[in-house]
Formats: sequence, structure tokens, C-alpha cells
Amino acid sequence: VQMLQRVSQTASSVIDLDELTHMILQEITDTMHIEKASLFLKYNGKRNLMIASQIGTRVSPRTIIASDHPLLKKLSNGTSVLTHPELATDQKYRSAWEGEREVIDKLGAEIYVPLNVKGELVGMFTFGHKLSEQPYSSEERQTLLSLAQQTGVAVQNAQLYSTAQEELRQRRETEKRLQLQLKRLSALQNINMAITTNIDLQIPLYLLLEQVTEQLGVDAADALLYDEENQQLFFVAGRGFQTDALKYTKLDVGQGLAGKAAELMQTIHINDLRKEKTSLQQAPLLTNEDFIAYFGVPLIAKGRIQGVLEIFHRSPLEPDDDWMNFLNTLTSETAIAVENAQMFRDLEKSNLDLVVAYETTLEGWAKTLELRDRETEGHSQRVLDLTTRLARKLGVSDDEMIHLQRGALLHDIGKMGIPDNILMKEGPLTDEEWEVMRKHPVFAQDMLSSIPFLKKAAEIPYCHHEKWDGTGYPNHLRGEDIPLAARIFALVDVWDALRSDRPYRRPWTDEQALEYIHNQAGKHFDPMVVKAFDEIMLFEQRNLKQK
Ligand code: C2E
Ligand code: SIN
Ligand code: SIN
Ligand code: FE
Ligand code: FE
Repeated sequence: VQMLQRVSQTASSVIDLDELTHMILQEITDTMHIEKASLFLKYNGKRNLMIASQIGTRVSPRTIIASDHPLLKKLSNGTSVLTHPELATDQKYRSAWEGEREVIDKLGAEIYVPLNVKGELVGMFTFGHKLSEQPYSSEERQTLLSLAQQTGVAVQNAQLYSTAQEELRQRRETEKRLQLQLKRLSALQNINMAITTNIDLQIPLYLLLEQVTEQLGVDAADALLYDEENQQLFFVAGRGFQTDALKYTKLDVGQGLAGKAAELMQTIHINDLRKEKTSLQQAPLLTNEDFIAYFGVPLIAKGRIQGVLEIFHRSPLEPDDDWMNFLNTLTSETAIAVENAQMFRDLEKSNLDLVVAYETTLEGWAKTLELRDRETEGHSQRVLDLTTRLARKLGVSDDEMIHLQRGALLHDIGKMGIPDNILMKEGPLTDEEWEVMRKHPVFAQDMLSSIPFLKKAAEIPYCHHEKWDGTGYPNHLRGEDIPLAARIFALVDVWDALRSDRPYRRPWTDEQALEYIHNQAGKHFDPMVVKAFDEIMLFEQRNLKQK
């Protein structure tokens, strides 16, 4: 009874399976003075029993008893102990052990005790002679049986626990890896905003001019901006003009009325332009506009000239204080807006450098992935080249090409989330492993979709395993529901994959791969893409012959 308690205590506190089984075996053999004992268990839902622990014996740690072995059949029948002498007279039992004499001898079992959990055989104890050489009493057998049952339950719990642990560990690892990638990617997200947002000064300036002409009741207005590099004012937006007179205005500081306003940083007011012909010689066509009144207001922000706002009216202007105040408010706000926008412009320029750095990063990732995926050197580049050629043949525009290329480069970025033991497995994948492997497009989508810069590029990583006939993954997309980029890339991927060495198979020849691709037109691949691919192949062959 004491032993039962100790065993069950052990069972509930020890979680590591090896440790648990060894302790139980130790406890039993010590208490009952048994010289040899072993424990066989089921693993991973398999039906065979495998040796888990042994004391006083030395069988191979890979010893397995097949699930259809008569010994196991007999044990699973009931909840009773089997003795060796009983079994020795059984013809089936003996023929099943044929050729495994060694194992039986080493086990030296006197009795076999089933581990039964809810009517299912989950393992077996074997016990050799007791040191006293006395046969096992029926009381002892009963004790061993109930111990075996407890052990069965404890072992199952431990197995369940460790499976859950392992799954949890793998999931955590995957998440950690993804998170790291995400972090790196989202750092680039901000940069990207500035690149893609088109900060165009024209639109806000037109709005301003609309306000100016309407609120101030004047016929026309324009905005000239100051180009610091060339120290010139140039025309950006105008409203209310009947001719293109001012469109091409470029004034040095000090030149013309606007140039004066900029130079003096003061508003210039002309009552009658007709008397100021000389100042407007830069724009001779302006005379056709018949303007009379003129205001040139410098746009100043942070003490620096940003441009000049010009106001024209075809009759004399007699502005009051309110009018002047409003004009000043509008211009100072505009000056600030212009200054901000200019700052963005400068930023944009430096972002171009960042984009270049970014592209290099992408290539770096692709290379890292190649290494892990045991891809051959330059594989990404080859895949990229063929993708580009096919896309060009299929009329993909230059604008879209860049996304396509980034996508091709990153097509298997999602494999970063696949554990090594699956990605590098040397044999075929099990159902469970496939389930994980098929997530690589989804992992990619998770990573890339939050980055505007790569959103369009994500089409390939996300959809490159979809098939034309709808049997692909992850979304079973069909036909033209699959983005063209992904349809193109799917062929390139397979063409290259088949001819590459993989942990799970040898490379195919070009002929084999070509035949496979033809066979898959209309099934895996878009027939139009296969046709374009054929044209490229024909062209290549002709080129080869010429050389
Ligand atoms: P991968 O090896 O680069 O293969 C890319 C795609 O090429 C495959 O997508 C499949 O459409 C095609 N492909 C590659 N090898 C073969 C082949 O031997 N026969 C045929 N008929 N098609 C082939 P799929 O099947 O969705 O596989 C995606 C990725 O999953 C593979 O990329 C590879 O990393 C992995 N994988 C696929 N099968 C196995 C396998 O049996 N064992 C292991 N360890 N990994 C596998
Ligand atoms: C690769 O191993 O790089 C290609 C496999 C895939 O596209 O899933
Ligand atoms: C890659 O992993 O870089 C390309 C894989 C392929 O298309 O087979
Ligand atoms: Fe893939
Ligand atoms: Fe691939």
C-alpha cells in the first residue's frame, strides 16, 4: 500500500516521461525485490509498443513489439497478468518471437502485466524472477495490475502534456520569428508613407488662390515659389488669368515686381500697372490682361522667403484695413504650409536613398532564406529573371513590374515561420507537417500586408501556391481570380524547384520538368502563361544553336 502511494505520488508530480517511467520501475523492483523489469509504451498514437525503460536488462532501446503480436493480443483481451510458462505453450506466441530469441532472453520475463487505460492497451510491464525465486502470489499479481493501471494513466497524462508543451513551444518560436520580421518591416513602414504620399503643393495653392480671389474680391492671383538652389521665383499656380502670360515666369530676386517683394521682404502695392510697364517686361503678354491694380506679398516663414503671392485686378483697388488684415493672414498661413511641404520634399529626396537601401535589404532576406531552404546559389536571381521575362511577354507594365520583382524575391519569405524540422526534412511530409508548410503563404501575407510599400508585392508570396483549377492553397482561388503576378510566378517556382536538388528528392532534368509543365497547363498553370513560357524556351534553344 505504501508503495502504491509512493508510485502515485511520483506519477502526479513528475512530468518528464523518461524520469517518470524509470522511477516507477525502480520503486517496484526495489520494493518487491525483482531482478529484471521493463516497461513498453505506445508512442505518438502509433499502435506498436516500444521499450521505454528497463532495469536489470539490456535490450536495444529501439526494441518494438508489433501491435498484432499474439502477446499484445492476449494482454489486451483482459486485465489479467500473463505468466511466461503459460505463454511458452502457445504456438502463435512462439512463432511470433521467432528470430527474436535474444530479446526474450534478455527480458527474462516471468510475468507480463498490461497497462490498460479505458479498455485500451497503452503499454506493458515485464517482470523477471524475484530474488527469492518464489513465484508471484495472486496478491502480488493484483498489486502489479493496479500499479500498471495507475502507471498507464500517469504516462498518458505525461504524454499529452509533453505533446501540448511541444506544440506550444513550436508555436511560440514561430511567433517570435514572425514578430522579429514584423518589427523590422514596420520600421520601414513610416519611410514608405512619405514615399508614396504625393505631397503636391499645387493643390493647396489652388485652394489658397480660390480663397484669395473670392474673399478679397479680386480678378486674378498667382503664387510664385522660391527655389533656394537657383535663387529664383517660379510660377506654381494661378487663377483668374485669361492668358498663359505668367505661366513661364522665372524671376531672379530683385527682378520685376515679385522679385522686388522677395528682395525687400515687403508687400509691393501698385495702383496703376499701366504706368509701370517697365517692371513687367518679363511678361509682355500680361498687357493683354488689362490689369490695373497689383499687390505682391512675400511669403515668409521662419524668417525666410518661401515665395510671393501676386494679386491682380482689372479696376482700381481701394483696400481697407480688414482687407489688408485678411490678406496678411492668408499669406502667413500659406507661407507656413509651403515651408512644411518643402521640408517634405527634401525628405522625399533622402527617402530615395532609403528605398535603395531597402531593396538591398529585401535581397538580403531572399539570400538568407535560400541558405535555410538549402537553395542553390543564385536561385532567387534566376527565378527573378525568368519571372521578369515572362511578365514582359504577358504585357505587365513597368509600374507593376517592380512589385512583381519584389514579390518574386520574397515569394517564400513565409518559410521563415516554418520550423527547421519540417523545412529541412529529408522525407515526405506527414499530414500535420503539410498543414504547417501550407501556412507559409499566410505567414508571408501577415508580414507584408501591413507595409504599404510591399502590399502589392505580397500577391506573389500570398498566392504562389494557388492553382488554375482551384485545387491550390491557401484560398483555393481559381483561374483569373488568382492575381496575374502569382499565376506567372507559380510556373517559374515549379520550373525552378523541380530542377533543383531538394532534401526530399533529386533534381529533375529539363526535359522532365518541361513535360510536367505542359502536362499541368490548365490544371496547375494558366495556359496563357505556359504558352508564353514555351515561346521563351524556343527562343533560348534557337539562341543556343546559333552559338
Ligand atoms: P519547393 O520544393 O520549392 O517546391 C515548390 C513547388 O514546386 C511545390 O509546391 C510543387 O508545386 C512543385 N514541386 C516541387 N517538387 C516537386 C516534385 O517533386 N513533384 C511535383 N509534382 N511538384 C514539385 P508545394 O507542393 O506546395 O510545396 C511547397 C514547399 O513545401 C516546397 O517548396 C518544399 O519546401 C516543401 N515540400 C513539398 N513537398 C515536400 C516533401 O515531400 N518533403 C519536404 N521535406 N518538403 C516538401
Ligand atoms: C522554394 O523552396 O524556394 C520554393 C518553394 C515554394 O515556393 O514553396
Ligand atoms: C527561393 O526560395 O528563393 C525560390 C524558391 C523556388 O522558387 O523554388
Ligand atoms: Fe512557396
Ligand atoms: Fe519557392
